Amino acid sequence: MTTTANKTDSFMGDPDATGRFGQFGGRYVPETLVPACAELEVAFREAWADPEFKREFHNLLNTYGGRPSPVTECFRLSEELGFRILLKREDLNHTGSHKINNVIGQALLAKRMGKNRLVAETGAGQHGVATATAAALMGMECIVFMGEVDVKRQALNVFRMKLLGTEVRTAMSGSRTLKDAVNEAMRDWVATVNFTHYCLGSVMGPHPYPWMVREFHRVIGDEARTQCAQMIPGDGIPDYVVACVGGGSNAAGIFSGFADTRAKLIGAEPAGGAAVGRAVPGVVHGSKSYLMQDEFGQVQEAHSVSAGLDYPGVGPEHAHLADIGRARYESVTDTEVLDAFQLLSRTEGIIPALEPAHGLAWMVKAKSELAGTTVLLNMSGRGDKDVAQVQAILDGDPEALATMRP
Ligand SMILES: Cc1ncc(COP(=O)(O)O)c(C=O)c1O
Repeated sequence: MTTTANKTDSFMGDPDATGRFGQFGGRYVPETLVPACAELEVAFREAWADPEFKREFHNLLNTYGGRPSPVTECFRLSEELGFRILLKREDLNHTGSHKINNVIGQALLAKRMGKNRLVAETGAGQHGVATATAAALMGMECIVFMGEVDVKRQALNVFRMKLLGTEVRTAMSGSRTLKDAVNEAMRDWVATVNFTHYCLGSVMGPHPYPWMVREFHRVIGDEARTQCAQMIPGDGIPDYVVACVGGGSNAAGIFSGFADTRAKLIGAEPAGGAAVGRAVPGVVHGSKSYLMQDEFGQVQEAHSVSAGLDYPGVGPEHAHLADIGRARYESVTDTEVLDAFQLLSRTEGIIPALEPAHGLAWMVKAKSELAGTTVLLNMSGRGDKDVAQVQAILDGDPEALATMRP
């Protein structure tokens, strides 16, 4: 690992010494948290440079997490849409999404730092379940904060966390979704920082989180690069790499494997949470990035049919990649997402989570641009957690329909 912090000119290298990617990132936290962030940065730099830590991390990802995840060729869907579609199958990981990669890394790091209590925020519940899982595996205490709205729409994941021995605390403030869960988790961390590690679930928050979380997910892109080299004639590089963007961790993971290639990088955002699409800079949850806000700088409430993308901000590295033109961010509506969710289920026998269905929804919309190309989509999670919600929407249940905007 490079410990000098001057690689911003190489795509998706290390942030600068202040934790910035271009103008974005940094560390905007209360004074009580500055030492904790600094301690975490040092611990991560040391661990990531330690071959024994990396060996233990990759060993757990393989023997416990189920890596490497395969790349699946979608023959029927490719024929229907007119371009070649490959899926990176993070949905096949233990606990059902990419989130386990980051969580295993952070839980190992917390142990190494002598901290035996984890706090985390969750939206869809996938990061919460993954954190609860790692805590059970490693014998750690775990508290997960979740907005009241998400507790209702992701009831199954709440039960899973409880089964895993985690305490789920309901966040009742604001929009009662992911943003509010992050606020509560940060508040807990401030009060308990001596013995608690905040296991943040995406490439957001103060430095070193955006960088550290991306590094723990880099395995997605590294594996996919090797797998594509076997599957794609010529240079082995897909024409497009597509991923959904909430905070942006699965996208950062897969983009990092292709950032230095000719592949076009596309992030799919929900229309009601298109932080990059609107491109207004601001500071939230400890870093500067693009952020949905009103004319007074107040953070606006995001909306998405998928709990995991219901977030008004985005990780700072994505703001930077958009700013320098290396990645493009496109938005899709809830209705388009629901159609894509059903399309993949019907044509390939793969029920996606609503989050990666955003990536597919963009591909359907962009099919004339994509004609004849090869597209790699990061299938960041499986749809088990969403089928009850989708069933209720399709059945016309008024409460479920209220989670949708056309
Ligand atoms: C399956 C799945 N994909 C994507 C996301 C969005 O997170 P990120 O943008 O950090 O990958 C979530 C969040 O819960 C998720 O559960």
